[in-house]
Amino acid sequence: MRDSVFIAVHHYQDENIVARGDLVADSYRLAVEAARSPAKYVVVCGVRFMAESVATLARPDQIVLHPEPDAGCPMADMIDADTAARTLALLREFEQDSEIVPVTYMNSSNAVKALTGREGGAICTSGNARPILAHFFSRRKRVFFLPDANLGLNTARAMGIPEGATARISRDGALPGGLVPGAAKLFAWDGYCPVHKVMTAGDVSLFRGAHPGAKVIVHPECVPEVASVSDGTGSTEGLLKTLAAAPAGSVWGVGTEIQFVERMKATFPDRAIYPIRASSCANMAKVTEANLEKALEAIRAYEASDAARQPPNAARLAETALGNFAVAVRDDERADAARALEAMVRITEGAK
Ligand code: 13P
Ligand code: SF4
Repeated sequence: MRDSVFIAVHHYQDENIVARGDLVADSYRLAVEAARSPAKYVVVCGVRFMAESVATLARPDQIVLHPEPDAGCPMADMIDADTAARTLALLREFEQDSEIVPVTYMNSSNAVKALTGREGGAICTSGNARPILAHFFSRRKRVFFLPDANLGLNTARAMGIPEGATARISRDGALPGGLVPGAAKLFAWDGYCPVHKVMTAGDVSLFRGAHPGAKVIVHPECVPEVASVSDGTGSTEGLLKTLAAAPAGSVWGVGTEIQFVERMKATFPDRAIYPIRASSCANMAKVTEANLEKALEAIRAYEASDAARQPPNAARLAETALGNFAVAVRDDERADAARALEAMVRITEGAK
């Protein structure tokens, strides 16, 4: 049975879970590669939006499990589909531009992803936000970026878009007071990651003071004040690649989740790697070896039952041993959410 189970692990997971992963990756590779695995069962060790994205892209004969259904992402909960639809309509009306498109961070609910697909937009991750935005800007489209303002504004700055051509939409849904129609090309919903938001420009300067000549790299969920004083930004995979390519003896301050920084430290013992601030993701930590083991046990029990001989469907699975773990995607959201995810894959793979 082992061959028919694929364990997909996000980089922020505990090292014991990382050690059990068939794939250890950022949220882009998790969504794309886990769903391409030939395995019947894909167990996603990460937060809910990661498991939902795999389930949305999975084949009909695959069953996607999340060992801890309660492991959500607070940023993904900072906008729901109705609010996103209302805000997009408000922007289009105010700007007299029916072609403003949503670009939605992977860290979002499937309902928001489905809205994105219906409205002609695409999903992005921290690893591909730039080519996704470039794709729409080169087609003269303006973008409603949600839910992470920091990723949107950091990417816009890296693309050379002046601050005046961006606008932040507060989470009460009201457009900014001084907004002039036609002035902005990126409208960023004011969501954020609480784990990265606590990192400050002061942390970076303290670190640089203590380690003269060191380099600082941060996740683009950090606030622009931090990203702009760093030497580079990257997705978890991007940060890992930078550290892997660094020479022995080099010194690094890393601004992202602490489990990951600690693992990088252990993986590359000949580089000096420090967190710019220790900040942990409590939701990622809800996935434990114990609940991973329970999910694997549930697969074994299910395989031993008659239910395993029938084609899987959400209602039937809910009645089986997999009931607590199987990730259900709503039928009325699947096709539109998949369209938005597939647009991301097309643009990203085309941009390589
Ligand atoms: P990555 O796509 O860089 O792995 O980021 C996911 C995430 O949730 C970071 O907080
Ligand atoms: Fe969500 Fe932040 Fe945790 Fe990533 S680190 S899963 S964005 S709360």
